[in-house]
Amino acid sequence: MKKPLMYYMMVTKEFSDPVAQRPVAVPYTKKWRYDMRHLMSPLDLSVEELDKLLDLANDIEKNPQKYAHTCDDKRLATLFYEPSTRTRLSFEAAMMNLGGKVLGFSTADSSSAAKGESVADTIRVTSCYADICAMRHPKEGAPLVASMASTIPVINAGDGGHQHPTQTLTDLLTIRSLQGRLHDITIGLCGDLKFGRTVHSLIEALVRYDNVKFVLISPEELRIPSYIREDVLNRNHVEFEEVERLEDAIPQLDILYMTRVQKERFFNEEDYVRMKDFYILDKQKMELAKEEMFILHPLPRVNEIAVEVDSDPRAAYFKQAQYGVYVRMALILTLLEVDVSC
Ligand code: NCD
Repeated sequence: MKKPLMYYMMVTKEFSDPVAQRPVAVPYTKKWRYDMRHLMSPLDLSVEELDKLLDLANDIEKNPQKYAHTCDDKRLATLFYEPSTRTRLSFEAAMMNLGGKVLGFSTADSSSAAKGESVADTIRVTSCYADICAMRHPKEGAPLVASMASTIPVINAGDGGHQHPTQTLTDLLTIRSLQGRLHDITIGLCGDLKFGRTVHSLIEALVRYDNVKFVLISPEELRIPSYIREDVLNRNHVEFEEVERLEDAIPQLDILYMTRVQKERFFNEEDYVRMKDFYILDKQKMELAKEEMFILHPLPRVNEIAVEVDSDPRAAYFKQAQYGVYVRMALILTLLEVDVSC
């Protein structure tokens, strides 16, 4: 029997399992998917749906006025239990650009979570106030739990060290716009591949395109989780290599995706301090790169890209943040099933 696609979610006491403090796999059933459109992982969109969404984002970029009133009567709730600048603000800007309104909270302690409310109860209530919701949470699987109790579409805006599908949509739009394609590329993913949720989602999305090669650049302790290596890369027979030195990897890359060491996911400060400056991309290393190799970074950056690199025409990370608005506009329109054909 074909194994169903699985979501790996951390079930804790809060998610109503009194004993388990371990990851469990939740079957990802068709029924759940089609009852209501949510976005938990990039795999919730087929390649065709994804291409259509990116086309819509490109059209929004070219003709913003055409979309300025498409969500006039709609509200977006942003429920952020974890810090964010780009994701929350770009979601809010996206809804405002569509003529809609936004409401929400930006820290757990300014919400009833501080009083002990579950995400399931919070989303039930939010469903009365908004038409769509973006949720970020430090616990893996929390937006999935919310989606199961929700009567409005829920978008995973980052769940712990697991997934970040809307960053992936942003990354795909950026790569496609700069390189003209998502197939036939060699992409280097560098930094914290263990806890970096943007990397996990991006790999899941890109393995569906032809001839994508991954170079996974990390220190030994921050290598990608084995479920990505086994269930995503090996299972799909995708070419990849794991290396430690950025200098060795850089000359072959079409895209270099830098990431921050995820301080908040470390169990002790000492390990973080040892890892935090493991990679610093500077002018000297950029001399080893192809003329047309673009640098992406989901941001925020700490030390991993020297400021001197910002003026290099291949530095695309601020442009990438702009693409995040167009793609989130396209996503809101898609999940709300707004007719944009005329
Ligand atoms: C990322 C995130 O929150 O996972 N940032 C983002 O959403 N743009 C990456 C990070 O925090 O390092």
